Amino acid sequence: MANIQDINVISVLGAGKIGSAIIKAVKENCKDVEVIATGRREETLRNAEQLGAKATRDNDEAVKEGKLVILSVKPQHFPIVVKQVGKDRWKGKIVVSVMAGVKLKTLESVLEGAEVYRAMTNVNAMVKKASTAVATNNGKNKDAVENLLKLLGTVYWVPEEFIDVWTALIGSGPAFLAEIIDALTMGAVASGMPRELAYNAILDVMEGTAVLLKARNSHPISVRDEVTTPAGTTIRGLMVMEARGVKSALMETIEAAYKRSIEIGNEIDKEIRRALGLQ
Ligand SMILES: NC(=O)c1ccc[n+]([C@@H]2O[C@H](COP(=O)([O-])OP(=O)(O)OC[C@H]3O[C@@H](n4cnc5c(N)ncnc54)[C@H](OP(=O)(O)O)[C@@H]3O)[C@@H](O)[C@H]2O)c1
Repeated sequence: MANIQDINVISVLGAGKIGSAIIKAVKENCKDVEVIATGRREETLRNAEQLGAKATRDNDEAVKEGKLVILSVKPQHFPIVVKQVGKDRWKGKIVVSVMAGVKLKTLESVLEGAEVYRAMTNVNAMVKKASTAVATNNGKNKDAVENLLKLLGTVYWVPEEFIDVWTALIGSGPAFLAEIIDALTMGAVASGMPRELAYNAILDVMEGTAVLLKARNSHPISVRDEVTTPAGTTIRGLMVMEARGVKSALMETIEAAYKRSIEIGNEIDKEIRRALGLQ
């Protein structure tokens, strides 16, 4: 199965932020694919319907109907979903979990007979610019899963052991970059530029620098050195960054988030295994 067009029905369990981004992407790109979405609140169901999905509170029915099932509830709600779905419903289903922290081993032992994938995406899925890592132990429909996740942005196949650092760098990445953008904007405001102007301009710089770095395909330092005129403005700014330890602070930021991801993952997984009576 190379294409998601070959999957007639996709079920999205948990049509929240990420679930809705998936529904929207599928309905915009694969009009013939039916999407069944689940949620608890009326508002969630109505929103899913507006995106073109058939909405229901019945997770069991959604899994029965779907050939491919997305698990996009919060991890703490996963045991409830499992209990709501018949044990033998999962057999033969392609299941893609986007839940943070829930390990492949746990998914495999709970979703009997399913072909299981664990993905970690980020909030940029809302504008189809996500960077999604996906891992599987024995998935046979990697093409279909990749094509589906590509509707949200870029897809990287990784061993599961990289998911925690992915969570730190890519899952939390938009927050770290947003903080840096805000700081740079405030610096311009301190120097007299109106906030709106500074903000929009630095967003352009972020986007443009990413495009330039991708086009160059060389180390980012090469662009830094090119911009750094002797005795110019950039070197003065770089000296402050160096003196304040900005680079090592950012490195430690990722390391701290990585360690927390491992901690949370272990807590979530332990809690889920306890709730579902697994060893
Ligand atoms: N947001 C991100 O940037 C991000 C990034 C990476 C990974 N993730 C992962 O993606 C998953 C979803 O995150 P999110 O931000 O999209 O969360 P969210 O907006 O809270 O969406 C979760 C949805 O699950 C629904 N739900 C809860 N229990 C349910 C049940 N028993 N049956 C059916 N639906 C149920 C909720 O519906 P109601 O609102 O109707 O209760 C809600 O709409 C999480 O596991 C998270 O770890 C999120």
